[in-house]
Amino acid sequence: MKKILVTGGAGFIGSHTVVELHNAGYEPILIDNFGNSSPSALQGIKHITGKDFIFYQADCNDNQVFDKIFKEHNIDGIIHFAANKAVGESVKDPLKYYHNNLNSLVNLLKNMLKHQVNNLVFSSSCTVYGQPDTLPVTEDAPVKLAESPYGNTKQISEEIIKDTCISQPHLRAISLRYFNPIGAHETAEIGELPIGVPGNLVPFITQTAVGIREKLSVFGNDYNTPDGSCVRDYIHVVDLAKAHVKAFELLNKKQEGHYDFFNIGTGKGSSVLEVVKTFEKVAGQKLNYFIAPRRAGDVEKVYAAVDKSVNVLGWKTELDLERALIDAWRWQQKLKQS
Ligand code: WQD
Repeated sequence: MKKILVTGGAGFIGSHTVVELHNAGYEPILIDNFGNSSPSALQGIKHITGKDFIFYQADCNDNQVFDKIFKEHNIDGIIHFAANKAVGESVKDPLKYYHNNLNSLVNLLKNMLKHQVNNLVFSSSCTVYGQPDTLPVTEDAPVKLAESPYGNTKQISEEIIKDTCISQPHLRAISLRYFNPIGAHETAEIGELPIGVPGNLVPFITQTAVGIREKLSVFGNDYNTPDGSCVRDYIHVVDLAKAHVKAFELLNKKQEGHYDFFNIGTGKGSSVLEVVKTFEKVAGQKLNYFIAPRRAGDVEKVYAAVDKSVNVLGWKTELDLERALIDAWRWQQKLKQS
């Protein structure tokens, strides 16, 4: 059974990917420092899969830990999720982001070369596109000046990986550019763990609906969009997780020294107000929200062209916005009981 090391494996996307790796017949090995996750995710993974996967509580900036892992296990490939990812925080504390996100990647790559681990899937983001000139945005759209230090770390990370693949004939890597991951596993055993006040739309919606937050601020309704609110491409986290399995299957077919990147989205844009209305429909309750001023740094509209992912990666989404909001709501209600 092929072993896949999942950094950030206890995180929102990491935990869902661990489940899908298991379902696809891989053996996931997890590393996480619980900086933005909780041991409860490991319990949730066990409830879903029945497995206690090998877990290392460690930081990806620690050089020793990769030596240890690569000596103890014959690792076939790595999925690198571990990074800080709060856009607003990155503006306030850029050095935290440049150090953690870039140093951990360089540390990982150095250890991969040292131990001849040749397959990498990297967690990137649609923020590399900024506000695209044309929509839907394709992978050959120009990478624009980053809107935040967080987005810049994703752009720089992709360059680091590409240059390393060019210099090292055996290394193969794929970057997956996520659009907006939302939802939770259908069992409500794993989901997005809210640490502090949510910056993202959907956890703020579900926390408002369950009474943790008084009301949702809709950041602007004067954009050049059908209902004036911003448009995004909201993708179910389980669909996103499955894209990582497809990425490994593609890597194993590719010649050496290979680097590529794919948009991981639904290909459909949804506005903030559409998401709110859809949530009210699936939850069967009104949501308390008001129109607030625009949020600095928001792009007006962005959603994915998915042709390359469908035709080359062999992946497409199967779950829609309604299902993602049902699963997010079920997860929120489960959290409230715990
Ligand atoms: C979505 C829309 C807000 C909260 C960011 C990162 C991206 C990825 C996902 C990590 C926007 C509006 C939000 C609220 C609102 N993160 N909104 N009220 O900004 O598209 O993407 O998170 O990989 O890299 O950039 O996601 O969920 O914050 O916002 O009106 O309370 O919802 O203005 O239009 P975003 P988001």
